[in-house]
Amino acid sequence: MKATSPLLVALALLLLAFQTVESQLQVGFYRNKCPLAEFIVKDEVRKGFIRDRGIAAGLVRMHFHDCFVRGCDGSVLIDSTASNTAEKDSPANNPSLRGFEVIDNAKARLESACQGVVSCADILAFAARDSVEITGGLSYAVPAGRRDGRVSLASETLTNLPPPFFNVDQLTQGFANKGFTQDEMVTLSGAHTIGRSHCGSFSNRLYSFNATVSQDPSLDPRYAALLKQRCPQNSNDQSLVVPMNPSSPTVTDVGYYLDVLANRGLFSSDQALLTSTATASQVVQNARNPFLWKRKFAAAMVKMGNLDVLVGTDGEIRTNCRVIN
Ligand code: HEM
Ligand SMILES: *[C@@H]1O[C@H](CO)[C@@H](O)[C@H](O)[C@H]1NC(C)=O
Repeated sequence: MKATSPLLVALALLLLAFQTVESQLQVGFYRNKCPLAEFIVKDEVRKGFIRDRGIAAGLVRMHFHDCFVRGCDGSVLIDSTASNTAEKDSPANNPSLRGFEVIDNAKARLESACQGVVSCADILAFAARDSVEITGGLSYAVPAGRRDGRVSLASETLTNLPPPFFNVDQLTQGFANKGFTQDEMVTLSGAHTIGRSHCGSFSNRLYSFNATVSQDPSLDPRYAALLKQRCPQNSNDQSLVVPMNPSSPTVTDVGYYLDVLANRGLFSSDQALLTSTATASQVVQNARNPFLWKRKFAAAMVKMGNLDVLVGTDGEIRTNCRVIN
């Protein structure tokens, strides 16, 4: 064989280095350490889903909110204390995040099956996957080995989680900050095909859009009228909710993209995907190719699950997902 060029060697080393970064987490991480780990989580997700089918949406969103704030380190699960307001008590999460009891139940069973082995961050990553699967999305292998963080600050949610009034440039930038392409941002937004929203997350579009128009003209007027019935202007009821994809709110399908194309995206940030040519064409492509979108969504979820993870001896394995050891 001829002598290999130094450039090729450098390239090969670089590739190898990237591979180590990629393989910080491993599929089947608990195969020997706690063989039933993934089964137990799936069983608890299934039980939670039978009690309340909205739980699946809650868990998918919880994983997103965990990963975008300080990485996928279970920080969203930590309770506030007298001296610290945790992520879960930020307005971005409280009162809307749900599904915590599924994680608690799984953790309790895992602690008795294999004490101190399975991290809360991994439990949440598995639970999000199981939620996608149980609602009809494609299942995917979850690389694991995440460790739990010891810090959770409500203040960090505001700068890391996109609010529902973002425009397409702000959404693109917010996801780029986490290493995602614009296409991946559009793909992940499809999670809004399941679940619900509190009225407060979009009521500005119905009653106080801007200085000249009260109602957002990009929202289908018939849908707006319906939403106004469900979300009265002067209601103080903070518990009012509407489904995000009314035709199939518990099914991971391309209903979200069909809604957006019909000007029935619930948030400004959903409807904003039609305001740039590139994102609009992604919306059309996803709407037309359910299987393609499901595959892209599964891949994007795996990528999201890799965000700033703690591995090796960093962090800890929490005993109770709500409290630092
Ligand atoms: C693109 C930027 C995004 C914005 C602005 C956004 C915003 C929101 C808002 C405001 C809600 C409703 C909260 C409430 O009032 O109850 C919501 C719900 C939800 N979001 Fe997002 N989100 C985004 C991306 C994502 C991503 C990437 C995922 C997951 C991959 C996701 C999954 C969900 C799910 C499943 C729900 C329903 C939760 C439930 O029913 O409990 N979202 N989102
Ligand atoms: C209000 O929104 C409408 C419709 O999007 C837009 O045409 C108008 O310029 C906006 N007005 C102000 C003051 O922002």
